[in-house]
Amino acid sequence: EQYDFGIVGLGVMGRNLLLNMADHGFAVAGLDLDEEKANSLEKEAAEGHKIKGFTSAEAFVKSLRNPKAIMLLVPAGRPVDAAIASLLPFLDSGDIVVDGGNSYFPDTDRRFSELAEQHIHFFGMGISGGEKGARFGPSMMPGGDAQAYERLRPVFEAIAAKVDGEPCVTYLGKGSAGNYVKMVHNGIEYGIMQLIAETYDLMKRGLGYGDGQIQETFEAWNNSELHSFLIEITAKLLAKKDEETGKQLVTLISDRARSKGTGKWTSQNAMDLQAPVPVIDVAVLMRDISKYKEERIEASKSLIWKGEKDTVETSSDVLKNAFYFAMINTYAQGMAQLTVASKEYGYGLNLEEVAKIWRGGCIIRALCLEDFRQAYLKNPELPNLLLDEKIGESLVNTQSDIREVVKIAVDKGIPAPAYMAALGYFDAYRSETLSTNVIQAQRDFFGAHQFERIDKEGVFHAQWE
Ligand code: 6PG
Repeated sequence: EQYDFGIVGLGVMGRNLLLNMADHGFAVAGLDLDEEKANSLEKEAAEGHKIKGFTSAEAFVKSLRNPKAIMLLVPAGRPVDAAIASLLPFLDSGDIVVDGGNSYFPDTDRRFSELAEQHIHFFGMGISGGEKGARFGPSMMPGGDAQAYERLRPVFEAIAAKVDGEPCVTYLGKGSAGNYVKMVHNGIEYGIMQLIAETYDLMKRGLGYGDGQIQETFEAWNNSELHSFLIEITAKLLAKKDEETGKQLVTLISDRARSKGTGKWTSQNAMDLQAPVPVIDVAVLMRDISKYKEERIEASKSLIWKGEKDTVETSSDVLKNAFYFAMINTYAQGMAQLTVASKEYGYGLNLEEVAKIWRGGCIIRALCLEDFRQAYLKNPELPNLLLDEKIGESLVNTQSDIREVVKIAVDKGIPAPAYMAALGYFDAYRSETLSTNVIQAQRDFFGAHQFERIDKEGVFHAQWE
């Protein structure tokens, strides 16, 4: 039997992707060293589907048709290198290996060059949408060799989520382009999740909403221009009761948040590129602050703000508009980072396509992605979504609402740093003149670092005292 496609790693993602491929008529093979996982695969498949599990790398590779296409769904880091090493002896020139995990993009560039020496095409591909996405239609972000992608295209387009009949997958660019785009996707994911969490707190402690009202508000928002996966699941999770106690489950969950690194990498690399993404930075650091539970308990007793108690009257539309404003800013920051990265790393990204494949399947899918797509369609060179006429106008019209929400947070001492970062970014970005001239003067004062002037050409140093 000759299989069309192979997957290494039959955990949740790998096995669901294989079943998805089989649903679309592809003959597929899976490899896992765990016999149980390899053997149970065939039982899960529907009748008539061609699907086989292997425990031997050699037998697995030899079962695939040429040029072979193999995707790795193993944890990022060493397991990826180990999996590649186990396949390598059986691969031929022209074969393709796709890493479908959340790998750190410099690792992808290294593997890309190492495998190119052996004439093997390596792809780094971000896959979003979790377990359900993998099974019924993920969003996929592949980067690697453009010509080799043609071998993968029919399979990926078949299994991807569809929006208006268009698949949520496209070839993104060279080398680590796919992993980079997925990394920034996750950074935006962190930012929007933090904004939603702050919104929940503002509703609860700021506006005095009851649990039911908060849940209903998110549900209503999901049926508006805020329609998105993250708002949808928030409305759903808030409706969930703990079976034992009957209490709202979310209120019983510890506030120590975890992370696996993609958000942090987005922020770290944004700093390297000098591409500011303050909402994402704040989202990463709020997960970090959440870990200092004991210190926070102590501080909550001594660092008191008296204005905390009374609730304020504000229409939920003000909060909704503020959220919209902050959300758009978060996407704008992430996509501006992609623009800078594409130039710096030579990815050749097309942001209209990125917006297009994020419209469905992925965690940050939202109605507004179509607006972003239109903006990049109109102007492929757009440096920042804030400069698009339509998007800019929607922010100008909602800015009074976010200013009001930030005031509520300030007055009541509710932490809303992501809202503040979104507004701060907007105000900085729309400032023709910033106060950074003072910084330049200070630098020259203490370190003779020199400055430029607005009234004449050249670099200057002043005798400040
Ligand atoms: C996705 C998610 C997925 C995963 C994140 C979570 O697009 O399907 O982003 O990749 O949920 O890695 O990251 P943290 O564990 O860091 O929150």
